[in-house]
Amino acid sequence: MSKRKIIIDTDPGQDDAVAILLALASPDEIELLGITCVAGNVPLDLTAKNARMICELANRTDVPVFAGCDRPLGRNLVTAEHVHGRSGLDGPDLPEPVMELRQPHAVDFIIDTLRSESNGTVTLCPIGPLTNIATAFNNAPDIIDKVHEIVLMGGAYFEVGNITPAAEFNIHVDPHAAKCVFRSGAPITVMPLDVTHKALVTKPRNDAFRSLGTSVGTAVAQMTDFFERYDREKYGSAGAPLHDPCVIAYLLRPDLFSGRHINVEIETTSELTMGMTVADWWRVTDREPNAYFVGDIDADGFFDLLTERLARL
Ligand code: BDR
Ligand code: CA
Repeated sequence: MSKRKIIIDTDPGQDDAVAILLALASPDEIELLGITCVAGNVPLDLTAKNARMICELANRTDVPVFAGCDRPLGRNLVTAEHVHGRSGLDGPDLPEPVMELRQPHAVDFIIDTLRSESNGTVTLCPIGPLTNIATAFNNAPDIIDKVHEIVLMGGAYFEVGNITPAAEFNIHVDPHAAKCVFRSGAPITVMPLDVTHKALVTKPRNDAFRSLGTSVGTAVAQMTDFFERYDREKYGSAGAPLHDPCVIAYLLRPDLFSGRHINVEIETTSELTMGMTVADWWRVTDREPNAYFVGDIDADGFFDLLTERLARL
């Protein structure tokens, strides 16, 4: 497999943190060009801090971390402390980061990187609201054709919504940005709740992280311990859903996932269903497919991969 150059656009979040760690643990397959932070699970100052804490946990202070947009394009920011805790990264007791945020603004880093790297070589991995990506596309439409692929976590069809009855969090927070990205024409792979709710950290899987006996293994076990209480209470599920690591696992092992090429449109007008991903899973319209919408995962294969990779850090 040739090495993929990626930018992770993120709002950490415990599951974002595990996604970043999985990428950092996979240097043979993934070259992480930078981490761009966005407001989402918690406000921007915390997501930009949490991203650096995770890089330091992995002893990767060389990874550039950039702060981006602090609010959605056209709506007030909705956050998710009820899921992730006040810090966004409740669970482990990690030290304050010492590494500095880099310049420029995350949006300019995305634009500059896509313009300077060879065409079709950079994959964007958004695992938070799509504000930074849409702003980059709006400010510099020339970069859209240069994107190799966008692999994102967001949306839902069969699982419908987690932040409202109709909408998944990342898309609901900035539906206008999501509409811009889904209509951009760039190749898109989507990890919706339909698949991420099958990637559950059961007790044996949590034990496997803890048994690594490393600071990373312990922190991931503590993060997923904290994060699971919400889904256990709400859905009665067997553990925390690792939404965002599905994006990175897909880059490493696409064979673990299956889905359909379909049309996905974003609701931006109805308050009731704001941010709903209207996914034509059954192909009942003649709207052009614009995304590979993933529906299933080999969960055991995914956790084997994740645990084996985290052991390398
Ligand atoms: C998504 O929302 C956030 O809470 C998670 O980090 C994930 O990206 C799941 O709906
Ligand atoms: Ca996230």
